Amino acid sequence: MSFEPQLPQWGLDDFKKHLDKLIEYHNWLKDTATKTGLISKKTDQFIWDEFIVHSLYFAKLLKKYKNLKECEIIDLGTGAGIPGIPISIVNKTNVSLVDNKQKRIYELERLVKILNLKNAIPKKKDANTILKDAKNSVIVMRCYVSTSNVLKLLEKKQFKENNLTIFVSSNSKSSDIFNKMFHVKQEKFFINKNNFRYIDVITDM
Ligand SMILES: C[S@@+](CC[C@H](N)C(=O)[O-])C[C@H]1O[C@@H](n2cnc3c(N)ncnc32)[C@H](O)[C@@H]1O
Repeated sequence: MSFEPQLPQWGLDDFKKHLDKLIEYHNWLKDTATKTGLISKKTDQFIWDEFIVHSLYFAKLLKKYKNLKECEIIDLGTGAGIPGIPISIVNKTNVSLVDNKQKRIYELERLVKILNLKNAIPKKKDANTILKDAKNSVIVMRCYVSTSNVLKLLEKKQFKENNLTIFVSSNSKSSDIFNKMFHVKQEKFFINKNNFRYIDVITDM
């Protein structure tokens, strides 16, 4: 089957104008990121659907839940820049790309120059430290840590009114979760004609 860099209906209006740069990032993922071990070898279509379209839904939700003029976005456990790079392509807001592996940060520093992304900032840091100290932040995470583990960590730190919004990719359907400090709403979306995914949106109350 030939590769089709399609945008789902939900992304046409917002993201079509960024298609060329998203395809440039797709090419980097399939060449450089694969050769340097940032991602394992995948088909072109898999890279497009699972890495790029999936990331674009984070960007869509950011617009739905936050006034982006007021915030910095932090992508924890970014790896090859997923979802942070597509978010920085379609938004002007600054996006910190955080990973604790220096090799990944070096590759991301080269990538942001290639794509001429002034608002994507690779940072070598420990995600747990950032999560513990988080305040007035918007955090995105894909395939890094589960929603329940994020909640456990935040509860331990006795967070209150820290103005946190956290978007976490999720594998399974769950009903809305309530606990004393946080509300979790699950958002479901199609990454292509046949497959859907979930992102959990955690907000403090
Ligand atoms: C499974 S990969 C996911 C990468 C990317 N978000 C994606 O969706 O493909 C997890 C990433 O988290 C990074 N990581 C693991 N522990 C970390 C920590 N304590 N702080 C920051 N990054 C960490 C790893 O180096 C790796 O790049």
